[in-house]
Amino acid sequence: MDKKATLKYGDTSYEMPIVQGSYEERGVDIRSLRKDTGLITLDSGFMNTGATTSDITFINGEEGILLYRGYPIEQLAEHSTFVETAYLLIYGDLPTETELAAFSRSLTYHSMLHEDMRHFFDGYPWQAHPMAILSSMVCSLSAYYPDSLEPDIHNHEHIARLMSKLRTIAAFSYQKMQGRPVVYPRNELKYCANFLHMMFSHPAEPTYEPDPELVRALNTLLILHADHEQNCSTSTVRLVGSSQASLYAAISAGICALWGPLHGGANQAVIEMLEEIRDEGGDCSTFIRQVKDRQRRLMGFGHRVYKNFDPRATILKTYADRLLKHLAIEDPLFDIAQELEEVALSDPFFIERNLYPNVDFYSGILYRVMGIPTKMFTVMFALGRIPGWIAHWREMMEDPDVRIGRPRQIYTGATKRDYVPVNDRG
Ligand code: CMC
Repeated sequence: MDKKATLKYGDTSYEMPIVQGSYEERGVDIRSLRKDTGLITLDSGFMNTGATTSDITFINGEEGILLYRGYPIEQLAEHSTFVETAYLLIYGDLPTETELAAFSRSLTYHSMLHEDMRHFFDGYPWQAHPMAILSSMVCSLSAYYPDSLEPDIHNHEHIARLMSKLRTIAAFSYQKMQGRPVVYPRNELKYCANFLHMMFSHPAEPTYEPDPELVRALNTLLILHADHEQNCSTSTVRLVGSSQASLYAAISAGICALWGPLHGGANQAVIEMLEEIRDEGGDCSTFIRQVKDRQRRLMGFGHRVYKNFDPRATILKTYADRLLKHLAIEDPLFDIAQELEEVALSDPFFIERNLYPNVDFYSGILYRVMGIPTKMFTVMFALGRIPGWIAHWREMMEDPDVRIGRPRQIYTGATKRDYVPVNDRG
């Protein structure tokens, strides 16, 4: 683009190029700023900093638009499957029938865990958080596949292995939590159905067959979680990957980043919040007052990027309603969630700050209805996000301009002083 931004510092003006994206969003390219001016930028929380250009996901936070490789999230949620969407994100286009069949075959082929790794599960205490298990097991995969230590984006085996084994590890960690033997995958089942089978079959329930409505709901949930451009965990994957660590190490770090309650851990926090409100008598107005008094936080609300509505939350609310009806279940937490949303959306505190339900507000309700326990919610988010992480890792590794991620700082500590022996320190 011809336009430039000018920075005036002292008596000198510096010109910086403008980079323009597909939807005319613009950024100032400051790559030579420090060299030219001696200045760095300071942007805590990266509120204004673009870490990269990317072809993967587009978000318009003002209008609530989310596109994966150009396809609207609403269309993918309605028509696609998680595996097809994963292929789209990772490889850039919707697969042909042959490509999809090959990708699915490869996921099936890699679904088993090395038996030695299965024994790792015996070493964790039964109350271990499954995110702790997931991140360490994923990192351990690099011990079993040492060729991953030389990262290669053309090694499709690692990609399929990671997507498939993450699902197996997630289900095994749930069975472990229940104190039950793990259940091996069944090759004839598709990705989501196979996951539900590994989660819910057990010796006393050997004939468990996943309900097609639950399989569809799970596909939709995972599609909605599959990518969200430069969020905290994806940025972590890129940062760790930029050091040329293995794909497994980078994804394991991403899983840890996702775990926090301000990121993927919010879905667990939402259900805990709704349970608290229910146990305190179900008074949403009092809760909202406490949020405004800063005594509590309305989990599942607000977003760094969405300032109008989160399209994922809209889809999930409809799905939660549909699944509850299908299973003929009444969930008081769904009623509390809807009332909370109504109270919050008509309150100036939330209106002025552009706070709306995000993806985590209703996803927990859906997981609960599917029989997935609260502690597993963030694991479900990780399962959905895996193709996005892989896609970003590949894009970063392929970028000829990529350098190791290494932010700078403005040092504000003590200036140089001499060492004082311990007896002289007063
Ligand atoms: N409840 C009450 N007040 C809020 C909330 C909330 N959930 N979110 C933001 N605010 C207020 C905040 O206190 C601040 O007010 P003031 O300017 O008066 O101090 C204002 O809104 C701006 O908030 P912020 O914290 O500066 O916004 P941020 O962009 O740094 O944080 C967020 C975004 C998602 C971390 C935050 O909205 C939040 O903590 N939400 C609850 C946790 C949550 O649901 N996280 C999931 C995010 S979506 C999925 C994902 O990314 O993993």
